[in-house]
Amino acid sequence: MGRLVVVSNRVPAPRERSQPAGGLAVGVRDAVRGTESLWFGWSGRHASQSKDQTPKLDTHDGCTYATIDLTRSQYEHFYENFSNGLLWPLCHYRIGIIDYKRLDYKIYREVNALFADQLVPLLRDDDTIWIHDYHLFPLGAKLRRRGVKAKIGFFLHIPFPPWSVTRVLPCAEEMLQEMAAYDLIGVQTVEDARNMDGCFEANNLPRRAAHFPIGIDPVEFGEQAIQNVMAEEVQRLQASLRGRKLILGVDRLDYSKGIPERIHGYETFLNRYPEHKGETVLLQITPVSRAGVASYRALRRELDEMAGHINAMHGNFDWSPIRYLTQSVPREVLAGFHRIADVALVTPLRDGMNLVAKEFVAAQSPDNPGALILSSLAGAAPEMDEALMVNPYDREGIADAIHAGITMSLEERQRRWQALHRDVTQNTAANWADRFLEMLRETERQE
Ligand code: G6P
Repeated sequence: MGRLVVVSNRVPAPRERSQPAGGLAVGVRDAVRGTESLWFGWSGRHASQSKDQTPKLDTHDGCTYATIDLTRSQYEHFYENFSNGLLWPLCHYRIGIIDYKRLDYKIYREVNALFADQLVPLLRDDDTIWIHDYHLFPLGAKLRRRGVKAKIGFFLHIPFPPWSVTRVLPCAEEMLQEMAAYDLIGVQTVEDARNMDGCFEANNLPRRAAHFPIGIDPVEFGEQAIQNVMAEEVQRLQASLRGRKLILGVDRLDYSKGIPERIHGYETFLNRYPEHKGETVLLQITPVSRAGVASYRALRRELDEMAGHINAMHGNFDWSPIRYLTQSVPREVLAGFHRIADVALVTPLRDGMNLVAKEFVAAQSPDNPGALILSSLAGAAPEMDEALMVNPYDREGIADAIHAGITMSLEERQRRWQALHRDVTQNTAANWADRFLEMLRETERQE
């Protein structure tokens, strides 16, 4: 069998493998580990001149990482504006904040053409190509135009809305036509597959989508959690709680994660259940993300204000109800934090999957597991129905779920956790990749 060629905008740094950025890099890294592979994408750096855009190669653990730099202009128009200022909100059903400019779309397509030009010389005839996420919708078509005959699959890590939403995009038809170049398109949920195929049908294109919910490597994360319970940071956190219940939120700073709504829910909990006042701490870890995009900067200001407000209104001289951090915490330390948490609050307004929910489950101790509160609008929700399910827009619902989580009997926590853990262990990142690639290799190309 030939090599697997993975292409994504974000590529984990091969030698700092404990902290890849975001769900895609974590899931795909876990999936391709040990397979002979080439991983092509953006280096995360800026090229000073556009001619300096040949890939730099670095081989580590059987995988060759080939990365290119983007110019400042490409970064702004392709990454910030078109991918994250337009496609991201559109796919998360937030058409009120999209900002379409023809120049952004032109440069988005040019960067996809650049990826194709730089990737083609590295390809072998028997490779299987697997392209990831919304930054690269047109890449398959660009590769076909350059004569690539290999099987090309695509996986979308974020949600995909129905045609009634997608058609808002002025270039929707052209994008869908280009996406039809893929032999197979994987999405996270049944709903996403139905929406995407509905878009193809509305444009007289053949159906291409199937759902493959992504997983994690639960054994590795579980071991990291056990090993790190004694780490200095985890011990310090534990000591600082002084017996209070720990409610943990871990998300990139992104409006799709529902962090303000969650904080409102926590405040409602403090008002609605005054008997627990002083007994809980919400630790919200929110590394800054996409800081060049206006909606992300606005969210940061909003959260700074909210955290200050809650502590001023509800706190005491020896208790702050919320601890809000914007620095990133190493992944292995996070694993330890998950293990000692009593409750995880995972309440996105929309999410492709949400691997944090799965990581929380993997990190728990079977003897004394914590409770997972999960948004019914996360892609993980259909698989994780033993979580305490909430609608993230319903602050009273979040408040009641926090109360239920911190007062839940050990027996019920164990029963729910065992069911969740079974699913997380069965549907791992490695199984996800195997299932997708098996179907891709069996797919006969339809024109
Ligand atoms: C999500 C997306 C990924 C992206 C990650 C981090 O998980 O699906 O494609 O890499 O967020 O975002 P960033 O913009 O930092 O790459």
